[in-house]
Amino acid sequence: MAERRSGLARGLTNYGDMDFSLYLRRANAASMGYGRSTLDRPVVGIADTTSGYNNCHRHVPELVEATSRGVLAAGGLPMVFPTISLGESFLSPTSMMFRNLMSMDTEEMLGAQPMDAAVLIGGCDKTLPAQLMGAANADIPVISLIVGSQLTGHSEGERLGACTDCRRFWARYRAGEIDREGIARIEERLVTTAGTCAVMGTASTMACLVETLGMALPGTAAIPAVHADRLRAAEASGERAVALASGELVPRRIITRDAVENALRVLLAIGGSTNAILHLTAIAGRLGIAVPLEWLNELSDTTPVLINLKPTGEHYMEDLFRAGGLGPVLRELRPLLNLACENVAGQTLEERLAAEPGWVDRDVVRPFADPVQPVGGLVALFGSLAPGGAILKRSAADPALFETEARAVVFSSLEDLSARIDDPDLDVGANDILVLQNAGPASASAMPEAGYLPIPRRLAAAGVTDMVRISDARMSGTAYGTIVLHVTPDAASGGPLGLVRTGDRIALSVAQRRLDLLVAPEILERRRADAAPSRPAPARGYRKLYHDSILQADTGCDFTFLRHPSPG
Ligand code: FES
Repeated sequence: MAERRSGLARGLTNYGDMDFSLYLRRANAASMGYGRSTLDRPVVGIADTTSGYNNCHRHVPELVEATSRGVLAAGGLPMVFPTISLGESFLSPTSMMFRNLMSMDTEEMLGAQPMDAAVLIGGCDKTLPAQLMGAANADIPVISLIVGSQLTGHSEGERLGACTDCRRFWARYRAGEIDREGIARIEERLVTTAGTCAVMGTASTMACLVETLGMALPGTAAIPAVHADRLRAAEASGERAVALASGELVPRRIITRDAVENALRVLLAIGGSTNAILHLTAIAGRLGIAVPLEWLNELSDTTPVLINLKPTGEHYMEDLFRAGGLGPVLRELRPLLNLACENVAGQTLEERLAAEPGWVDRDVVRPFADPVQPVGGLVALFGSLAPGGAILKRSAADPALFETEARAVVFSSLEDLSARIDDPDLDVGANDILVLQNAGPASASAMPEAGYLPIPRRLAAAGVTDMVRISDARMSGTAYGTIVLHVTPDAASGGPLGLVRTGDRIALSVAQRRLDLLVAPEILERRRADAAPSRPAPARGYRKLYHDSILQADTGCDFTFLRHPSPG
């Protein structure tokens, strides 16, 4: 029996006799009821991310079934396999800590199990980036099947969608405008269907970027989770995976520097999540493509915000779907995009755009000449407080606060923040800058979405709705406000953010792209010398691996040993 290099014969288990290995594998596969001719088909692995801890993926079993149907119809053998699933609000201390773990799981299972192509089903915040990080170096074709976004709900005539409205109502509750019963009623109406958050949060942003990169079938990013088109997209992804099986269109041929630049353009044009810059940097970093924040600034100045979606605008993801999906955004950006990039459908971007119908709802996707905002949604800041950079989502911030010099009010940790932020005696005014330390990637809290510091209750009750807030944490893509994030290096790794004290002056200038701590260097050195020793490192397990290997935000918070050895 000669060794075969495709289908079930790929990557045989080593018993010292390869013919025996194949015979044994086929015997075990036959025990699942497959006939001999079925076992000879090309194999398409389907990564199943169903989990009782992931509400956004509750319909994934249906998507697995539709994908399998597509694979079978096209003459392939679907083999469904589980991977880690990351449900955003069910993980402690934060899903971000486990993104790299999921990427390792995906990478290893794609390589260790016999398959000629794969469909990866993902959606909730960290799952799509984890899957692409894992797939970046796969030697087989891979298609991302996006789970799709939730439909909106309603309460007392008001339209609601997770999770921008979650935050809006919580802010009203904190300000005393809504009572306990009122917020309990809202709790049941914010998330009413399967799928990912209903606004342009991280999940929707990543869906748009994955389609832009060319890793998902064209037109699939914005289909709602519960729409029949989502099932058709699954079936088509399965069929297409069979066509690609054992071919040359592997992820590293699709995710090129030009494709990453296209994704950055789209990120800016959709007013996308700050998290996406981390994820895109990490995906690109696996392939040796550097994404310096200066690149983001260059593109940001020449890329308008084109879509009118929450949290920066008015509409929801289902409205983007009705407006024509991502296609109209790409068509508006056409002169700025690299049109030779390929996608998993086997088209160039130019061919894709030429084949699309031209309809668009201009209330949702604005023309390039009349954008929602004339410049991109994200901007990187540098300065003495952030030598390695920081991010501000200017499209979701208050322009009146863009040029600010003010007093810092510092919280040394998340615990300190929750203990004091609502203290009626807290010495804080509406014009102060709130600073949170030790919430970055190297901290024990592993960079949670805590950068959306609450407005102190006393100020919220007095009508203050926004303040400059600075941290080394992340922010949910569904949040809004004048919030500076990802300050690098972070406080836990010795960055200047950890040396700020209440009463220091900080200068923010969005026009100058600056973030400076106005304290003399010798004072900072004295503070550094007096600093308390850092907490002991975890002794074992994944948390030790995380602690020993985590990189900073400017490299996408990947692990040292997973990133390409020479990015850039
Ligand atoms: Fe899953 Fe928001 S909680 S995408």
